[in-house]
Amino acid sequence: MTLLINDANQVITFQAEHNKPRTRQEMRALNIIVGGSVLIDEDRIVAVGTKESLQTLYPELVAKAKTIDATGKVVMPGLVDAHTHLVFGGTRENEFQMRLNGATYMDIMNAGGGIHATTKKTREASFEHLYEKTYKHLNDFLKHGITTVEAKSGYGLDWNTEEKQLQVAKKLQENHVVDVVSTFMGAHAVPAEFKENPDAFVDLIINEMIPKVAKEKLAEFNDVFCEKGVFTPEQSRKILLAGKEYGLIPKIHADEIEPYEGAELAAEVGAISAEHLLVASDKGIRDMAEAGTVAVLLPGTAFFLKADSARGRLMIDEGVPVAISTDFNPGSSPTISLPFIMNLACMNMGMTMEEVLTATTINAAYAINRGQEIGSLEAGKKADVLILDVANYQQLQYFYGMNHTHTVIKNGQIVVA
Ligand code: NIG
Ligand code: FE
Repeated sequence: MTLLINDANQVITFQAEHNKPRTRQEMRALNIIVGGSVLIDEDRIVAVGTKESLQTLYPELVAKAKTIDATGKVVMPGLVDAHTHLVFGGTRENEFQMRLNGATYMDIMNAGGGIHATTKKTREASFEHLYEKTYKHLNDFLKHGITTVEAKSGYGLDWNTEEKQLQVAKKLQENHVVDVVSTFMGAHAVPAEFKENPDAFVDLIINEMIPKVAKEKLAEFNDVFCEKGVFTPEQSRKILLAGKEYGLIPKIHADEIEPYEGAELAAEVGAISAEHLLVASDKGIRDMAEAGTVAVLLPGTAFFLKADSARGRLMIDEGVPVAISTDFNPGSSPTISLPFIMNLACMNMGMTMEEVLTATTINAAYAINRGQEIGSLEAGKKADVLILDVANYQQLQYFYGMNHTHTVIKNGQIVVA
């Protein structure tokens, strides 16, 4: 199919001179075409520009294109959610009430709830149940304009269940229109059966799980919850380096609840991203800037845990490329609404509306190694395009807590209209 989106109030392209995540003032450079058009053929973007320029350069394609009128609207790349715990059994609204009554996230986890509660439910759930449940979540993501989602395992903590989660993600990648990018996160918690000997669980991840994930090509990334009482920096380093040997790119849940030099570790092991970073140190932030590690910030998690958000403003000013994601999971962030999370990034991390848009498109794409393929409207890239029913991009944050998605084009097909 050939599509021509015409007469948009603003086409936000995020075009840049280089193929790298955007830093500092680049995060504010949206490269907007006023009254712009986007020409799409099959699953690719052919060109962006004015209607006249596209007509001159591509008369044949323009002649056969189905036209979409975007008058009064904003056109931008599909949103990318670079951090979710997508596939899980059950829900944990009971813990929400416990936290409202004053319990902390870690108290609940240490008492056998939290990740352990979801692990139990995920172990019990059938493949089909998890598949159907997650399929619905992906429908919700899509309705909110998210066209690519990263998905972490980590509610199995035994091989069979980790594999089940990763296989569900794989089947969804094949069958659902939203792209699902997999991360192995066997090191999400130490399961009860290894409580007395956590190093034996680390060995199991390194010697058995990682090789199987790599052999069965079940994930591209390897993530660890590096946190006091979960995995130490030493254990995390071992796990991330072991994954690297098998071609799994390191990611890390770093400095979420207590400072633990997770940001420093991310830079040291060459992680593509460090995530959360609520209490990352000044040095950790500088190390990440120097290494080019993407900070995947999750202000919805801070909001839901009633914690202070990461220092997003400082990170950008220090030169760290910042992405923003939902952290969708049943405990600390049960929402798929990336638009709401974007608003929180403005409100609670001092980020500008422009920076937030960059953080949920091109920088989020780089956080999952897709920066050359998605995240901007540029010739040759995948045609994942949103049409938003707002007059300008600022209204996306200003009219907050609403879904402004009008049309979603995924792989060049209209999938939400
Ligand atoms: O990113 N921090 C660890 N993991 C998740 C929470 C998972 C859960 O509570 O189920 C997070 O916040
Ligand atoms: Fe997470």
